[in-house]
Amino acid sequence: MSNEIVIEAWNTVLFDKFTRFKYLFVEGYASISEEALKRTSYLEGARVLDVGCGFGDCTINIAKALGAEGRATGVDCASSFIRECNKSSAEENVKNAAFMIADVEADDLGGPYDEAFARFGTMFFNLPGLAMKNIRQSLVPGGKFTQVVWRKREDNPWLHAAELCVREIVPVISHDDTKAVHCGPGPFSMAGPDMVSDMLQSVGFERIQFERFDSDICIGRNIEEAIQFALEIGPAGEIIRLAEADGERLKSTVVEALQDVIGQFAREDGTIWAPSSAWFITAYNPR
Ligand SMILES: C[S@@+](CC[C@H](N)C(=O)[O-])C[C@H]1O[C@@H](n2cnc3c(N)ncnc32)[C@H](O)[C@@H]1O
Repeated sequence: MSNEIVIEAWNTVLFDKFTRFKYLFVEGYASISEEALKRTSYLEGARVLDVGCGFGDCTINIAKALGAEGRATGVDCASSFIRECNKSSAEENVKNAAFMIADVEADDLGGPYDEAFARFGTMFFNLPGLAMKNIRQSLVPGGKFTQVVWRKREDNPWLHAAELCVREIVPVISHDDTKAVHCGPGPFSMAGPDMVSDMLQSVGFERIQFERFDSDICIGRNIEEAIQFALEIGPAGEIIRLAEADGERLKSTVVEALQDVIGQFAREDGTIWAPSSAWFITAYNPR
């Protein structure tokens, strides 16, 4: 099955949306990946692959932690993101970070790597088993793979509360019924530990562990920004975009309904912080 539609989406509409809200993602996601990386002590000089690296901020942080002899390689299927990664690493003068455009489901990932890391970079694969196998095969024997993925939607109201609200108002168009590009399976596709551990095991990973990590994340500096974020990002944003003319027509009704839904997360200073819940998943390539 070709991944063209998903790659096109990440290169265009989704890249544009993520760029508009980059400051929220970089800060919010960093607070989660810092915790995950605290549990991973990279050896000096290690080679680390960052899967679905997006803007590359995680890759650059890993490269800095590895020391001059180490090397972090960010891989992403979207050239738009990789262009930004190269810009950022040049601006920060980080010499031991490299970036490549590749489809993790299908392409050679280089290596061998001592470790692989993915922060919210594995939830959008059409064929996740193939991608996991490819990642494992890029690791040295005994190499560790750490992934951060969202847990179930009910524990992630920062995305799910807006989705429920939008579903009440906007007709839902399935990926099979539209010619529009889309993001692939979506942010909760790796939420089920039974399914994910079976998949990792079936492609040869061993010593699979899940750690739950809960934290509040900032989804807007004020209610207007948080509503805009909800309208564009995640399942709610995808429902509105795929509904095309209906989505546009119903937007003002959604905005009104979101005032209460998002307002419940407002802090005294007006900033909006909602609960989030992730898995830190670790697995090893056998020795
Ligand atoms: C939600 S973003 C996460 C980006 C980054 N890891 C972060 O935490 O900010 C998911 C990323 O996975 C990339 N991606 C999706 N499918 C992919 C595939 N098949 N191969 C490589 N990258 C992929 C997308 O282009 C996007 O940059």
